[in-house]
Amino acid sequence: MCGIVGFTGLRHAAPVLLDGLKKLEYRGYDSAGLAVMNDGVLSVKKVSGRIANLCEITKDGNTMPGEVGIGHTRWATHGAPTEENAHPHLSNDGKFAIVHNGIIENYIKLREELTERGYHFDSETDTEVIVHLLEMYYKGDMRKTLIKVVNRLKGSYALGVICADEPGKIFAAREASPLIIGLGLDENYFASDVTALVSNTRNVIYMDDGDFAELTSDSVVIFDGTARPVEKKSSRINWDVQAAEKGGFDHFMLKEIMEQPAAVKATTAPRIRKGRIDFEEIDISAAELAGIRKIVITACGSAYYAGCAGRYALEKLTGIPVETELASELRYSDPLIDEHTLVIVISQSGETADTIAAMKECRAKGAKVLAIVNVVGSTVAKLADYTVYTWAGPEIAVATTKGYTTQVTVLYMLSMFFAEKLGRISGKEYDRLMVMITRLPRHIQQAIDMNPRVTELAKKYHKSKALFFIGRNTDYAVALEGALKMKEISYLHAEAYAAGELKHGTIALIEEHTPVIALCCNRKIMEKTLSNIVEVKARGAEVLALTFRDNQKILSEADDLLFMPKVDEIFSAVIEILPLQLLAYHVAKENGCDIDKPKNLAKSVTVE
Ligand code: M6R
Repeated sequence: MCGIVGFTGLRHAAPVLLDGLKKLEYRGYDSAGLAVMNDGVLSVKKVSGRIANLCEITKDGNTMPGEVGIGHTRWATHGAPTEENAHPHLSNDGKFAIVHNGIIENYIKLREELTERGYHFDSETDTEVIVHLLEMYYKGDMRKTLIKVVNRLKGSYALGVICADEPGKIFAAREASPLIIGLGLDENYFASDVTALVSNTRNVIYMDDGDFAELTSDSVVIFDGTARPVEKKSSRINWDVQAAEKGGFDHFMLKEIMEQPAAVKATTAPRIRKGRIDFEEIDISAAELAGIRKIVITACGSAYYAGCAGRYALEKLTGIPVETELASELRYSDPLIDEHTLVIVISQSGETADTIAAMKECRAKGAKVLAIVNVVGSTVAKLADYTVYTWAGPEIAVATTKGYTTQVTVLYMLSMFFAEKLGRISGKEYDRLMVMITRLPRHIQQAIDMNPRVTELAKKYHKSKALFFIGRNTDYAVALEGALKMKEISYLHAEAYAAGELKHGTIALIEEHTPVIALCCNRKIMEKTLSNIVEVKARGAEVLALTFRDNQKILSEADDLLFMPKVDEIFSAVIEILPLQLLAYHVAKENGCDIDKPKNLAKSVTVE
């Protein structure tokens, strides 16, 4: 997973490309590069490390003249994050430069063939074969050449190309990796994500798989695999530039945590009409719904944990059995899925390779797929039978926060929507839950208001060797996400356990002062979690409990307390997660970690 940008216009390209790359840095941040064309000559600059290094060696792009160019920010897959392996890659004759996001699966064979034909390779990347294929096939017609080249590739690509013989032009191609064309005035662009485009234009075209594009400063031609032009509708991006900027916060993660009341409101409000939930985007009849024997939720990472948190409401309200399965497992498990299964896939980016593969597998088995996704026009959104956007706005921090809460919120709303369609919820219960849905943003804000107290607690816990998160049922689902947040940004060892499982092994790890974060917001089973708190206390643990103010028994057992707004457990996960996001954030800050760009990670995982 990498980010690519391209520019053609009447002004200096390199600063525009650098600006775009900075916006895409969340996609990969181990090396970067630019290629610019000036008077028919290509020049390339590459660095290992961050975009800041590229800005430095090019004096913010000013040392690279030219009005046409491409850029790349990398998350290494094939070959270490060195300058040689950074993109753009150049052809041996110096005529072509390319940037690529994706994986070329048959690159070894192609590399052997090209080496035999006398092409030499400067990098260990899979990408480099593409630029030599371009040189090999080029006979003066770039469109035909590009088609020939991609016909030789197996895998995924968003590809950007410049050619010294084609002044003023940038070329692009897409297969299973995101690529968006930006339409400007006397200039045009492409990028992996709209965040890289919004400071220049809000008018975009989402490319589809199999599309190619040829851009000049005043024209955009999209063509297909037969070189025939294809008509494409343009879309308007309706969020503003500030949405993708830090806006005075130290980190995107903190900004995005704070945005959650508004994000959840953006998810819920458009779907509530006259006191009822209506998903216009789900064209599924009551009869079809009644034919569904099970629901399978599949996703990766936090999106999977969102599924774990939402499944309780879905199962309880619809009466349909709900299974959750990691997409990376489901894709190879020959799952028992058929036309009577509804598969719900969840993905913030809509680009996660395992999630896409799992959804393809499920569709091949006859299931209908409903996608809960944030990024508009993403692969998951395009492949699904029903696409429900979370409308959370751009999420830049690698650690997801508003992405997660809006996904869980959609699951809550789907539970009510389906239950009503199936006639399995009473009017009274529906109205009670409706009040809770409309109050979610307010309750989330109340949880955010604990920030000062959580900041203090982070000072107490940040030096811990390991932290344990325990809970049962919905609380356990939240514990899983809380522990993941802690691990990925603070690098502390954090594990989530179903509280009842502790005594089957893990309790052996509890020693004097081990922090145990106990989630006790599920009234029906609080007593049970309390007994686990007592057990870990007896072995020296320091317990931080999240619970309600009136929970006297826990008040007397826990060392530290965070009081949650009073909510029914059926919808509590989106509120309970807030203090855990904040705790992870402040612990990571205390430990001086690079919060928005944690080591070894990138925002979307487009490789297996
Ligand atoms: O874009 P997706 O929601 O499909 O991403 C899935 C996971 O990679 C993602 O949730 C990951 O676990 C987050 N970085 C966790 O904060």
